[in-house]
Amino acid sequence: MIVVPITNFSNKSALGDILKAKKEADIIELRLDYIKNPHLENLIQKSSKPVIATNRKKSEGGKFGGSEKERIALLEKAVILNADYVDIELDSGINQIKRMLALRDFCRSASRIIVSYHNFHWTPKNLESIYKKIKGTGCDIVKIATYAKSINDNLIIFDLIERAKKDGQRIVALCMGEKGEISRILGPIFGSYFTFGSLESGKESAPGQIPVKTLKDIYRINKLENKNIKIYGLVGNPVNKSKGYLLHNFSFSQLNLNSIYVNFLVDDLKLFIRGYRNLFDGLSVTMPYKERIIKFLDVIEPSAKKIGAVNTIAVKNGKLFGYNTDYFGAIRALENKAPFLRNKKIVVLGAGGAAKAVIFGLKNKCAKITVLNRTLNKARKLAFDFKCGYGHLSQINKMDFDVLINATSVGMFPRVNRSIIKNKEIFKDKTVFDLVYNPVMTKFLKDAKKIKSVVISGRDLFLDQAALQFKLWTGKNMPRVSVNKISEN
Ligand code: ATR
Repeated sequence: MIVVPITNFSNKSALGDILKAKKEADIIELRLDYIKNPHLENLIQKSSKPVIATNRKKSEGGKFGGSEKERIALLEKAVILNADYVDIELDSGINQIKRMLALRDFCRSASRIIVSYHNFHWTPKNLESIYKKIKGTGCDIVKIATYAKSINDNLIIFDLIERAKKDGQRIVALCMGEKGEISRILGPIFGSYFTFGSLESGKESAPGQIPVKTLKDIYRINKLENKNIKIYGLVGNPVNKSKGYLLHNFSFSQLNLNSIYVNFLVDDLKLFIRGYRNLFDGLSVTMPYKERIIKFLDVIEPSAKKIGAVNTIAVKNGKLFGYNTDYFGAIRALENKAPFLRNKKIVVLGAGGAAKAVIFGLKNKCAKITVLNRTLNKARKLAFDFKCGYGHLSQINKMDFDVLINATSVGMFPRVNRSIIKNKEIFKDKTVFDLVYNPVMTKFLKDAKKIKSVVISGRDLFLDQAALQFKLWTGKNMPRVSVNKISEN
């Protein structure tokens, strides 16, 4: 179930948002601490979905400005008015919680009592004792929300959900913050009683909350089943600019697969692999881990070994297999518009990981390659490893070639007004390919297009490499026609 919190400051606007939330929410949380003089009867009555009455004080991440007595009085009123759920913090004191449970029984109210614990700074190691304390109150639902300082903190939350399931105890457990986002997506699939989704971005009631539409339409958390679910994801830092989660989740939904793809924002790769290797079924790997990941894998496919970088991991019989689908994607994208690469004269700008992958692919196609780089030594080393020509970036004006490939990071978001090529005449009558895919049309490509060169966007590479990943993971073809359509938006 997805709970949409209502975070308005007036009764009128809260009622407006309750109406808006109706379509997507399973439950509506009335954040009474946000509303000035909340008209509780009306708010509960006007909500066609079950409601949670919550009234947080400032130390618990809320906005309530009155006295503790007034705060509790409002929650007690919610119990008397039969709000479907009433949330009281563990911090309110065991006696207060007991009084609320007694009031509920005395009034024969149907309210289910949630007892909640929040930690906005970290995820304590002793969560189990906090869980036991809350469970001991005899409440209906235990709620624990902590802040994830590391991606591995989510594992503590997942273990807790497992533990509560064994006890037959309803629990809502999640991590807040960017590194905790996965718990908001995977938690409910693993058995957390509900998760929170904001009505829209900007209306979050806690850090890391994801819009309800994203939870439903992209991650499909209300459709997936815990049993036999396959979990994939992107490992990197940062990960929030990647579009992979859109392609893969969309493809899973098109093929009706009980699979999900999430972003793992990782600081410590070793800890991540140790903690998560039994949880995921496959990974995409991005900056800065494409090289560093290799030492944690069991088997490296030969092309990835030669390139020295892995961007895809597939799990087979518990073993981690590393692949490089970037080079495949680059060649696919290139051949689509320049089909015969044999003996073509190709200049690659840049000598980093991206250049290495594309040069590996081009060598297989027997193209004649020259690598030009700002740092000559790096170009020399790459040319030695792959048996191709090399030079300094400044030599571009003197080169004779058919295809020009930008494998530097110049022009990438946010510095979108930059191009590695200043003299636009260089593009004349050439095929021009930019490995950068954010933005789709870089300045490099825009300049080339202006003088009618054939241009290839890094997006094509991105889609082709993702399609091969998808095949390696699922054995199925990515539904490319529909994927191409969504990637245009
Ligand atoms: P990736 O793995 O994505 O290829 P990388 O290994 O950091 O990333 O390589 C980035 C490439 O872009 C390098 O070739 C780098 O040139 P240097 O080897 O001289 O560092 C190139 N690059 C980055 N910024 C550049 C700039 N402003 N001008 C020219 N080349 C640049």
